[in-house]
Amino acid sequence: MARVTVDAQAARAIEKGAMIVFKKGVVKTEGDFKPGDVVEVYTRGGRFLGKGFVNPDSNIMIRLVTKDRDTRINKELFRERIRKANEYRKKVLGYDRAYRMVYGEADYLPGLIVDRFNEIASIQISSVGMERFKLDVAEAIMEAEPEIETVFEKNTGRSRRREGLPEVERVLLGKEKYRTIIREGKARFIVDMRGQKTGFFLDQRENRIALEKYIRPGMRVLDVFSYTGGFAIHAAVAGAEEVVAVDKSPWAIDMVKENAKLNGVSDRMRYIVGSAFGVMEEMIRKGEKFDVVILDPPAFVQHEKDLKRGLRAYFNINYSGLQLVKDGGILVTASCSQHVDMQAFKDMIIAASAKAGKFLKLLEPYRTQAPDHPILMASKDTEYLKALFLYVEDMK
Ligand SMILES: C[S@@+](CC[C@H](N)C(=O)[O-])C[C@H]1O[C@@H](n2cnc3c(N)ncnc32)[C@H](O)[C@@H]1O
Repeated sequence: MARVTVDAQAARAIEKGAMIVFKKGVVKTEGDFKPGDVVEVYTRGGRFLGKGFVNPDSNIMIRLVTKDRDTRINKELFRERIRKANEYRKKVLGYDRAYRMVYGEADYLPGLIVDRFNEIASIQISSVGMERFKLDVAEAIMEAEPEIETVFEKNTGRSRRREGLPEVERVLLGKEKYRTIIREGKARFIVDMRGQKTGFFLDQRENRIALEKYIRPGMRVLDVFSYTGGFAIHAAVAGAEEVVAVDKSPWAIDMVKENAKLNGVSDRMRYIVGSAFGVMEEMIRKGEKFDVVILDPPAFVQHEKDLKRGLRAYFNINYSGLQLVKDGGILVTASCSQHVDMQAFKDMIIAASAKAGKFLKLLEPYRTQAPDHPILMASKDTEYLKALFLYVEDMK
């Protein structure tokens, strides 16, 4: 088996629990390998660190699968890990029929995401190594959870292109099925696997449910970057009088309409297809005010080098959002950029509130991604979502 030697920094990170090695941490390679092969990883001093998939064409050059020399990387290993990951969601976390079943390296399954929506599993593979086991993975999912009848592969997007993998979106195994209805707190949602990511953003589940307790009859709510209406539908179901959903995707807004109908709240919903920046500017100009504003944008920072520019976009969105919140209203603001940590996010919102002339009080403890997207304590790559629930008062 080919060998890869890593520098002291990468070795220390692995010893602390990291499961990936960036290209810049590799100092030497020995033997032949192709993208997706398994290689052994060593320190400069020749100490064995682990085994994993290699992809010399990717910035993440090695994704470790095991730190044990004797463990064999084969379909039996992945089958057992998928079974364990599913059991963790059901037995420890108490999830039932809709949950993230596998969250990549946090489940020791690098490059594999599996979201379960009732009888459909939607999978994303973002490493060449895992791609080779695609069908074994699909079989293992059905074996771990016999209620699953369809494995849909949603293998599209940037991470695939970065690894040099083709983009595919189709049923990989089982029945041709793309849609199902899931329950989340008091709300129900149609999940269509052909939507964004795996079809639905399960990571905000607990934050969406947490919103319900702040909604009072008569409230006006604005959900910016609504996608299929995650926060908006919860607000309407909880009794808000008027809920406005804004998204630039016409498909997403059509889905908000369908979800509103499903939940019997269509009479209290309004929809805007458009860019959040322009739509909010227009609302500010008209002097509109809301009791609750939700901001859940896409990741504005994809790479560390874009941090400054991305933080500026978060600042602009939040500065606009704050101007639309009534005195004594609530702002729910989120960032799913892994490179923006909680401190940077807090600094951004403090700066935006100062400019908008608002005081902010933290209503909820700092919130993050749902627990079925586990944060591996030793791996900061597994922690990405930040959500703040803020009480907003005018500085007078
Ligand atoms: C992270 S998702 C929101 C998820 C949603 N809150 C939920 O709970 O399901 C981000 C959404 O922002 C939308 N989006 C991206 N850029 C936008 C823009 N400039 N203006 C409006 N919407 C945008 C995308 O279409 C996507 O639906």
